[in-house]
Amino acid sequence: MNIFETIEKRKSIRKYKNIKVDLKYIMAILEYAILAPSAGNVQEWRFIVIDDNKIKEKLAKAAYNQDFIKEAPYVIAVCADEEEIYNAYGKRGKERYMYMDCSFAAANILLVAAALDLGTCVVAAFDDSEVSKILGLPESIKPIFLIPIGYADEDPIRPERKSLASLVFYNQYGKKLK
Ligand SMILES: Cc1cc2nc3c(=O)[nH]c(=O)nc-3n(C[C@H](O)[C@H](O)[C@H](O)COP(=O)(O)O)c2cc1C
Repeated sequence: MNIFETIEKRKSIRKYKNIKVDLKYIMAILEYAILAPSAGNVQEWRFIVIDDNKIKEKLAKAAYNQDFIKEAPYVIAVCADEEEIYNAYGKRGKERYMYMDCSFAAANILLVAAALDLGTCVVAAFDDSEVSKILGLPESIKPIFLIPIGYADEDPIRPERKSLASLVFYNQYGKKLK
C-alpha cells in the first residue's frame, strides 16, 4: 500500500473486532512513530501501551464515557515530557512544540496502523488529571492522545471535508488561487 492509498484508507474507527492484535504490530507502529520530526529532535514523546482491561475501562470513563476505547485490544497513550521540551525551548516549547511533536508521532501511528490494516481513532477529549492518575504519570509527563487500535468492525463514511478552494489562498490570506 503506497502513501496515497494509506492516507485514503485511514478513517476514525470506533468499533473493533474482538480479535487480538499481535504486540509485534504495536511495536512496529511505534518504531515508525519515533521517526516523526520533533523540534530540535528533542523527542519528548512517551508512549504507554495498554492492554489491561481494567485500565482501558478507566480510560474510557475518563474520556467522558467514550466506551469504544475499552473495546479496542490495545490503546496507545501518547504522552509528552513537558520538562524536557521546556528545558530546550521554554514557554514556546511547552505551549506549542510539545503538541506539534506528539501530533506528528500520532499521525505516523494512525498511518502505519492503517497500512497494517488496523483501525484507530485519535482521542483527545478526556480529563487530563484523571488520565494522569490512571496511568501513573509523574508530574512532568502530560497525556496528549489516547489511540485505541484494533481490527475495524465498521467502515464508516468519511466525514465530509470542506472544499480545497475554500481553504487555500495564493500569496496572501484571502487571495484566491486562479
Ligand atoms: C485533536 C483531535 C482530537 C480528537 N478527539 C476525539 C475524541 O475525543 N473522540 C473521538 O471519537 N474522535 C476524536 N477525534 C477524531 C475526529 O473526530 C476525526 O478525526 C474527524 O471527525 C475526521 O474523521 P476521520 O478521522 O474519520 O477522517 C479527534 C481528532 C483530533 C485531531
